[in-house]
Amino acid sequence: MTDDEKLRRWFRQMSSSIPILKRNPGDDALVGREQFPLLRSNPGLVYLDSASSAQKPGLVIDRLTRFYSGEYANIHRGLYPLSEAASEAYEQARLRLARFLGADQDEIIFTHNATEAVNLVAHAWGDGNLRPGDLILTSLLEHHANIVPWQLLKERKRLRLAAIPIDGKGDIDLARYEMLLSREPKIVCITAAANTIGTVTPLQTIIAMAHRAGALVMVDAAQAAPHFALDVKPLDCDFLAVTGHKLYGPDGIGGLYVKAGLLDKMPPFMGGGGMIRSVSIEHTEFADGPRRFEAGTPAIGAALALTTALDFIEAIGFEAIAAHETALLAHAMARLPEIAGLKIIGAPVSRIGIISFTIDGLHPHDIGTLLGESGICLRAGHHCAQPLMEHLGLSGTARISFGVHNTRDDVDRLVDSLARVRQMLR
Ligand code: ALA
Repeated sequence: MTDDEKLRRWFRQMSSSIPILKRNPGDDALVGREQFPLLRSNPGLVYLDSASSAQKPGLVIDRLTRFYSGEYANIHRGLYPLSEAASEAYEQARLRLARFLGADQDEIIFTHNATEAVNLVAHAWGDGNLRPGDLILTSLLEHHANIVPWQLLKERKRLRLAAIPIDGKGDIDLARYEMLLSREPKIVCITAAANTIGTVTPLQTIIAMAHRAGALVMVDAAQAAPHFALDVKPLDCDFLAVTGHKLYGPDGIGGLYVKAGLLDKMPPFMGGGGMIRSVSIEHTEFADGPRRFEAGTPAIGAALALTTALDFIEAIGFEAIAAHETALLAHAMARLPEIAGLKIIGAPVSRIGIISFTIDGLHPHDIGTLLGESGICLRAGHHCAQPLMEHLGLSGTARISFGVHNTRDDVDRLVDSLARVRQMLR
């Protein structure tokens, strides 16, 4: 059976399990909160922290339950039907993630999250391909996950590391990027969408410029993947990392795309069971393809439930997701300035549904704690992006981020609570 036939069969099976995603009349959520058990059972909760981790639709939770209660066995190890079926479903999940990213099945390695995916590249590609003195470029917009693994590699291999600057609005400074490329970096590590201020980076341009300069490109798509389609073939990136828990899927599952041809040149990252062809005490022959990088029993149920989460996202559609976020962003941008002393951080050309802000005289942690007491969930602090905070001269921000269940009413409740907090701490 070809990959496409397998995928069509899989879609047929899955589409019957996706209910029509109905909204309540008059509700401007894209998917009603009743589809999310946690939001359904906490009617007062306003969840504005999807960038940290998305709430889980009932469908995803049901898929986990179904696997553990009726289908569970380890994969690629048993010869009995239960294990063979689990192995088949796990490989179908790989195919599903591959299709979500426009990749081939053999180009997808399952990891536990995006952070592990970046570390895998830094070890497996970086250790084998970089020489002392080589330059790595990251950017000021990055999450620590796309900085620290490269710093560790820099120390291991005595490399150099530099950051692409940003302009006053929070966009990548392409002119200064061009100048950095003249120093011939070996790899450019760039986010597709910044977790702190929401900047969508001009990936296609950044990647083409890197390739012209002879550098590979590692894309951190952890934040971007729930918001817009990432098609790795036209993008032409070399590595791309995603994580399941921001994609309405379970935690503990992530994925790394590695462009065909590169994977074969990468030695394993971790050793153990499942990633070998044969082992003697002296020597190991490693498995081919992505499985060479998947040592130990993986997050099988999470991979299967990720498939359901990807079906959920694609059933909604990225066009609808973008329109929903644009409307919520416009509403929030109009209402937030009602709060005295509130400053929205960054004004990038394009942003996903994320807004970071500060309020004069209030510590972001106090904003987060006090709003939390009113049932409003947002993230406050440095957002694992300390180099960006330092550049902005801030110790932290409060950050709201939208998911498909959010409404204008959620924004209104946030603004009302901020006004109360402002009053209280005046
Ligand atoms: N990376 C996640 C965030 O931005 C945890 O909140």
